[in-house]
Amino acid sequence: MSNYYPDEVIEEVRLSNDIVDVVGEYVKLQKKGKVYFGLCPFHNEKTPSFNVVPSGQYFNCFGCGRAGNVFQFIQLAENLDFVEAVKLLADRAHITLPEGNSANDGRLKLKQQLIEINVEAARYFRSILFNNTNTEGIQYLKRRGINETTIKKFGLGFSTDEWDSLYKYLIEKGFDHEAIKLSGLVIQNKKGGFYDRFRGRIMFPIFDIRGNVIGFGGRITGQGEPKYMNSPETLVYDKGRNLYALNYAKNSGEKRLILVEGYMDVISLHQYGITNVVASLGTAMTENQGKLLKKYADEIIIAYDADTAGQSATLRSMDILDDMGCNVKVLKIPDAKDPDEFIRKSGPEEFRKLINKSVTLLEYKIKLIESRISIETTEGQVRFLNEIADLLAKVSNSIEREMYARKFAREYNISEQSIFSEILKRIKPSKKVERRIAVKREDLKSVTARENERKKGSNIHNERLLLCLLCTDNSLYRIIKSKIKPEDFTDENNRKVAKFIFEKLENEKGIVPAELFNILDQSVSGEYSRILMEECNCEDNTKAVMDIINKMELYNLDNRLEEILNELNNRDGKEGNVEKLKHELQSIIARKKKLRFHS
Ligand code: GTP
Ligand code: MN
Repeated sequence: MSNYYPDEVIEEVRLSNDIVDVVGEYVKLQKKGKVYFGLCPFHNEKTPSFNVVPSGQYFNCFGCGRAGNVFQFIQLAENLDFVEAVKLLADRAHITLPEGNSANDGRLKLKQQLIEINVEAARYFRSILFNNTNTEGIQYLKRRGINETTIKKFGLGFSTDEWDSLYKYLIEKGFDHEAIKLSGLVIQNKKGGFYDRFRGRIMFPIFDIRGNVIGFGGRITGQGEPKYMNSPETLVYDKGRNLYALNYAKNSGEKRLILVEGYMDVISLHQYGITNVVASLGTAMTENQGKLLKKYADEIIIAYDADTAGQSATLRSMDILDDMGCNVKVLKIPDAKDPDEFIRKSGPEEFRKLINKSVTLLEYKIKLIESRISIETTEGQVRFLNEIADLLAKVSNSIEREMYARKFAREYNISEQSIFSEILKRIKPSKKVERRIAVKREDLKSVTARENERKKGSNIHNERLLLCLLCTDNSLYRIIKSKIKPEDFTDENNRKVAKFIFEKLENEKGIVPAELFNILDQSVSGEYSRILMEECNCEDNTKAVMDIINKMELYNLDNRLEEILNELNNRDGKEGNVEKLKHELQSIIARKKKLRFHS
């Protein structure tokens, strides 16, 4: 855990944000017994494996293994680091955090300043848009059919043609010079003076998922280049991690998200009541954007422009999303260049029909091959069949593969047999089969190695169980402390956790399970939460703890025993040493007997 705020402050924030309430703002939860269940917001699923335990104030997902307390939840849900999550939840509970002075705090302050500057700039642009002396902007938007409600919803504005009116305005508002520079809203000229980046353009504020203004896009109202200009990347604007209008689309209540290319497509569709739409803003789709989409949607429908650039962008984006395990489909726009033009021409009902007619990645690719290859000649038919077989061979799900192969055979009047055999030729033996062959070759040595791995794993588990029990029942510390030290934990991660817990209890500070997650690695928090839920309800904690300590000692003794045996086998002639080792061996064997007797 970052020691950026004192532990007590972090605990106060945690205790003031009930995890059921916080998670409930993101996930629809249903109570079942003592636990709440819902669909995991961090991976795609159809049946709930995400649960929140109010008594322990932690969450956990059996599906993706993510777990933690309210801080980790906010970190994952809002893509924040720990300190930022503490800040957000402090804010939510109206707790004032102590002023820090670390570099991290400086960065956070600057981020906040940049957002304030952007908000102020958006206000300024809007006031210009609605200013009656210059009607250029408002007339342009009217021509494009954007109404006032939509203008306000998306915070649209206009920038004047002057060189530095925004810059002067921001200085007048008292913003720090350096911060204005870092906001990307102004550009420094060779002589050191400043001028506005956006001049004479319709302004589109770009919001992050929480609705903060993090940047702008600006469109010219007439002909010319460039048509759009966008804010550069700043401390608060990371293009590859953002999707335009996701702050609205995530509340649309729909399980699918529609991905379009431009600002105007989003705005137009929203105006017509189709609100599950976001835009990637002309940049190539990134994996981080994919993660965002996956987080908020079960299915993603790509509705890019109809031109060839749009088509190749569609393919690239689809492949990225498909590789990430998203359900992707493509919506084809007929008789219009983009979704905006289509919906203005044909209306929302027609657009909804297109949504329902959207096709899967595979169908889309088959259609593309179809449009490329003429099947008039035999040669063309063979090439066509080959390319389709290449495509189908890559489908990893065999049921899906077979289904498409049959469908394809039917549609093109080809025998199922010939398409199946072409596909089979292209499929390599699966990993599973290879693995089975490898196992057969395994010799005795690796069997022993595997047994050792198993013992090691079970010991790591015992260590974790001990730590979890200690957190559920702090009074156990009195029994434990004379018998075991943090150094006795074999797993490095567990050792770190043990140190943290032992120190707290030694200083009589007390610790609850939920606090544990502040110091756990995300990779192990799922396992810890599972242990807390399933294994910490024993009738006699003292007996359980004694039992674990015995097992841990036995494991450590076994390890030492093996070390000694190895050393005795490879000894380099020093007799005195051998005597000492043999003596230790004897006492280990005696101790093991005693432990076995007691357990
Ligand atoms: P309209 O022509 O106003 O309908 O724009 P649009 O929203 O339909 O955008 P278009 O499909 O032309 O482009 C998609 C997105 O790519 C835009 O929303 C911009 O984010 C971006 N874009 C378009 N043109 C440019 C440009 O000239 N420069 C930059 N940097 N980005 C652009
Ligand atoms: Mn357009």
